[in-house]
Amino acid sequence: MRIAVVPGDGIGVDVTREAVKVLERIAGLRALPFEPVFFPWGADHYLATGETVPAGAFEDLSRNYDAIFMGAFGDPRVPDMRHAAEILLGARFALDLYVNYRPVRCLDDRLCPLKGFSAADVDFVVFRENTEGSYVGAGGNLKKGTSDEIAVQEDVSTRKGVERIVRYAFEYARSRRRKRVLMSDKSNAMRYVGDLWQRVFFEVAREYPDVESSHLYIDALCMQMVKDPRQFDVIVTNNMFGDIATDLGAALQGGLGMAASGNIHPGRTSMFEPVHGSAPKYAGTGKANPFGAILTAGLMLEHLGHLTEAEALERAVARCVRDGRATPDVGGSLSTSAAGDAVCERIEFD
Ligand code: NAD
Ligand code: IPM
Ligand code: MN
Repeated sequence: MRIAVVPGDGIGVDVTREAVKVLERIAGLRALPFEPVFFPWGADHYLATGETVPAGAFEDLSRNYDAIFMGAFGDPRVPDMRHAAEILLGARFALDLYVNYRPVRCLDDRLCPLKGFSAADVDFVVFRENTEGSYVGAGGNLKKGTSDEIAVQEDVSTRKGVERIVRYAFEYARSRRRKRVLMSDKSNAMRYVGDLWQRVFFEVAREYPDVESSHLYIDALCMQMVKDPRQFDVIVTNNMFGDIATDLGAALQGGLGMAASGNIHPGRTSMFEPVHGSAPKYAGTGKANPFGAILTAGLMLEHLGHLTEAEALERAVARCVRDGRATPDVGGSLSTSAAGDAVCERIEFD
C-alpha cells in the first residue's frame, strides 16, 4: 500500500496523523506493506509559495500510488478557497473520481440523536455524483461591483455522468444485498437536469428488477432522514444535494467527527477523506475527533481489498465509542491522539 497522504489544513493535520497511526498499527499486525508518502499541499504551502498543486502532480498520484488520503482544506487566510478548489475538487475532477461514497452508519446507541431510534436504525449509503452538477465551475460574473452585477453558476449534468453514478448505486445495492435504491433531485423546480436524472434513473432501474427503486425530492429526503432513517438503504443524488444530505447524515452518526468518505473511480487510484472540514477553531487543540478520518482509512482498506482489516478497524472504533474512549464531541474526554491510541489498542484479529 503506497499511499499519498495530504493532511491539508487545520484539524485535517490532526486527524490524518491518527488515521496513519492506525494504518501503521494494522499493517504491523498483518505484515502488510504500508508506505505513506506525505505531501505538504494546503494553505500554508500556498501562502508561502503561491503553489496549490504542482503541475503533473495528479498524474503522478494516479500512476504511482495505490490510493490517496486527504485530511481537510480551508483556512481563513484564503477566503476564496482557491487552494481547496485546486487540491480537493482538483483531485476529484482530474482523477475523474465520480463516485463519492458516504456511508451513514451509527456505530453506537449513545451517538444516535433521534428520539425513539437506536444505532441499528441508521444504516444506509449515499452515493453522491462527484464530477458534475454545480461544482463544474461553469459561470461567471458580469459588471462585478456595480449595481447591475450578474452572477451565474451553471448546474451541469451529462447523460454519461448521471448514468454511471446511478448504475454504480444499483450495482452496489445488488452486490451488498441492499433492497432499495432511492434517487433524490429537485426535478419539480429544476426541470432540465431533473428530467435527465428522472429518465436515466428509471431506465437503469429497469435493469435491476431485484432492487426496489424510488424517488424523493431533496427537501423531502432531508425531512424523512430525520423522521425515519430506517427506510433508506442506498441513496443516489447529485453533487450539491449529496454534499448537503451527507452533513445531515453525519449528524445521524454522532456528528461530523464520525463521518467517512471515499472518492472513487473503479479500477483507478482513488481518494479518501473524512466528510468534515478543517474546523479552524479546533486546529492543534487536541479536540478534533479522529474517528471520521480513521473510519475513512477503513474505507480505503476496503477499497484496496483488505476487508478483514477494514472490519477490524471499524470494530475497534465502535468499541472505543462504546467504552467512552473518545473525544468530547462523542461523549469522551480523550484528546485527538489519545483517541487514536485507543483505537490502536482495540484492533484485534482472530
Ligand atoms: P467543519 O466540518 O470544518 O466544522 C464544522 C463544525 O463541526 C466544527 O466547528 C466542529 O464543531 C464540528 N466538527 C467538524 N469536524 C470535527 C471533528 N473531527 N471533531 C470534532 N468536531 C468536528 O465545517 P465548516 O466550519 O463549515 O468549515 C471550515 C472550513 O473547512 C471551511 O473553510 C470549509 O470550506 C472547509 N471544509 C472543507 C472540507 C474538506 O476539506 N473536505 C469539508 C467541509 C468544509
Ligand atoms: C465536502 C466539502 C467540499 C464539498 C467543500 C470543501 C468544497 O463540503 O467534501 O463535503 O462541497 O464537496
Ligand atoms: Mn460537505
